[in-house]
Amino acid sequence: MIFAANLKCNHTRSSFKLYANTLNKALESTNDEIIVFPPSIAFLEDKCNFIQGAQNFYPCVNGAFTGEIGKMHLDEFSIKCVLIGHSERRALGDENLIKAKFDFAKEHGFKIIFCIGEDLEIKNQNKTLEFLEKQLKIIDLNYENLIIAYEPIYSIGTGVSATKEDINKVLEFISSLSKAPLLYGGSVNENNIKEILAINHCSGVLIGSAALKVENFIKLIKG
Ligand code: 13P
Repeated sequence: MIFAANLKCNHTRSSFKLYANTLNKALESTNDEIIVFPPSIAFLEDKCNFIQGAQNFYPCVNGAFTGEIGKMHLDEFSIKCVLIGHSERRALGDENLIKAKFDFAKEHGFKIIFCIGEDLEIKNQNKTLEFLEKQLKIIDLNYENLIIAYEPIYSIGTGVSATKEDINKVLEFISSLSKAPLLYGGSVNENNIKEILAINHCSGVLIGSAALKVENFIKLIKG
């Protein structure tokens, strides 16, 4: 199973060091794939028992892009995994940039967790599947280092995940388009994680709030 933690704009350099130390110890023997996306200011140089990923980057090696982080900066921390298309970033940019990020990350062999998800309006209009298909159209669904995360916007940070039936329907649909491992994200917590991981085609979870405390994240991983 894949357990990914998106720490978003939480944790500092010093608090993430403690987070990583505790997580490293807990992961000394695990067969699961654990990925953590800290804020980039907190990237660690040390070797970890988990994969460090970047929440964001700019599709360049380096250059005149004020405020951005390029591949050169990720390389310094041996970061080979990136999150692309999270709804919180989609809200800030356009699809062309998402596509440029995907193409750049693919060209450089990064593991990509590509996020898709509809809002409540689309869901209520019964347009979820066509909306998600459109979001997936801009990327190479056969890329061997791709993971797709389904994160319905209405469930992110609300404490209420999508229903088992809805997740099942969506993952079934995505699996008809791509062989990539599929994650679910959106209010995953200790009360619903077992049920979510048991859903057909679900290879893991992308966790926000419930992974902010390392002890909670470890509990979710260890079941
Ligand atoms: P929550 O788990 O806080 O709903 O966040 C999910 C998320 O956005 C992970 O990328």
